Amino acid sequence: MLRPVCRRTAMAAAPLAANVRTGCCRNVRALCSARHPPTNTGSPPPIASYLPYLSSPRRFLSTPAATLQDSASPHHPPSPPKPDLKALPNKFTILGRPYTRHAHTNVTPTIISKTDRRLHLQPNHPINILKRRIESHFPSFTPIDSLDPVVTTQQNFDSLLFPPDHIGRAATDTYYVNANQVLRTHTSAHQAEVLRRREDEAFLLTADVYRRDEIDVSHYPVFHQMEGVRTFSRSELEREVMQDPVMKDSGSSSSSSSSSIQGAVLSPTNPIQPAHTRTDALLVDLHLRTSLESMVRSLFREDPDLQIRWIEAYFPFTSPSWEMEVLYRGQWLELLGCGVIQQSILDSSNNADRVGWAFGLGLERIAMVMFDIPDIRLFWSRDERFLNQFKAGDIVKFQPFSKFPVCYKDISFWCPDGFHDNDFADIVRDVAGDMAEDVKLIDKFQHPKTKKTSRCFRINYRSMDRTCTNEEVDQIQDQVRRLAEEKLGVELR
Ligand code: PHE
Repeated sequence: MLRPVCRRTAMAAAPLAANVRTGCCRNVRALCSARHPPTNTGSPPPIASYLPYLSSPRRFLSTPAATLQDSASPHHPPSPPKPDLKALPNKFTILGRPYTRHAHTNVTPTIISKTDRRLHLQPNHPINILKRRIESHFPSFTPIDSLDPVVTTQQNFDSLLFPPDHIGRAATDTYYVNANQVLRTHTSAHQAEVLRRREDEAFLLTADVYRRDEIDVSHYPVFHQMEGVRTFSRSELEREVMQDPVMKDSGSSSSSSSSSIQGAVLSPTNPIQPAHTRTDALLVDLHLRTSLESMVRSLFREDPDLQIRWIEAYFPFTSPSWEMEVLYRGQWLELLGCGVIQQSILDSSNNADRVGWAFGLGLERIAMVMFDIPDIRLFWSRDERFLNQFKAGDIVKFQPFSKFPVCYKDISFWCPDGFHDNDFADIVRDVAGDMAEDVKLIDKFQHPKTKKTSRCFRINYRSMDRTCTNEEVDQIQDQVRRLAEEKLGVELR
């Protein structure tokens, strides 16, 4: 996952105060998986402040160099959240299946309680509406959408060629059920098993995915991804490309097409796999990117001049790899990661005779833009003032019900060795639930003599559906302080 290491994260060491106000640190880190062209220096975004969530994309599971060593209440407002502070018992269940607590277990009751929500299957929910839109664009792809979120580390990482020391495996980034099982961190975790069945040469796999993460309006530890996979025999591939006028035109060197695909040529830093001939790779790549451009143009059809660009990326399981960005309301918005499937994955899943492509996109991120939803927590709302605004098949703009006041509290403490910000974020989530809008590190320093590190976090509390009283926020804050002391061993200041 995108963690330090990237040269751009030198920024993370810049004075925190500046980062805190602009969110710049996260922004920079989030873009690091892609090998970006020079920053767009055109006129400043006209409405930069209007779309805060655009600046903080959900990270893709990329970053080659980053390693572990581096680093429902219908008509009246709901009552205050009742924090579920029970520790996870020794025996627990996830979707009815029994598990035993283990030294590696870091799933929390709060996270487990999300596993049965399956927003992508709720009719009239924006996530489901978007899912269906994309499925209708790829009618020949088999939809798969009810796979269990508990997968093995083999499925989530090894089957996709993640090196043993990849940062994505870290307990600070991933929810472990036990030493060998995790809550899937991406839908790619199911690629190999579905390919092995050889039933579907094209599928769209939608699921809830889980990542330990920071807290703000565009990050939530559970979100929804859609994985698209298409495989071909060599002859099918050639036939499909030749039969499609757009692909045929983009592929020919004499073409006058202004397709953005031509602008992004393959390079040594984004190589063709040794197992592929140049023709194999170019045709799969062309098919992939033409298909995705056509899907995205149909999603954003009210903007016929939508600008798309392709940024070189890295994923252990594809090469060449790309991230697609669209220019939306003046800002480049990262929509998806994709690439030509590593041949060894196809070989070991009983598909040695085929080549193929894959893409993965975050549904919340696109839904926030398409439905104008300003805060990712809203997707989880059971409030009818949210849910009743959406109807299957329609893309409508969300009408915010009033924004309730924010109340912030700071907490400072000395950190024990091994402290990680995501451990603190999980405590805040457990205690405050969706009342926690944002948690920011606003100060950090090291004592010159003792070498101990102190951190100060500012927690913004804001309910999505009512005004919270100062007293209730104080109580929550007290619980956060107590639990941070008890569970993380911090020394409060
Ligand atoms: N699984 C990747 C992620 O979550 C996205 C991806 C899917 C990239 C398929 C390439 C191919 O970051």
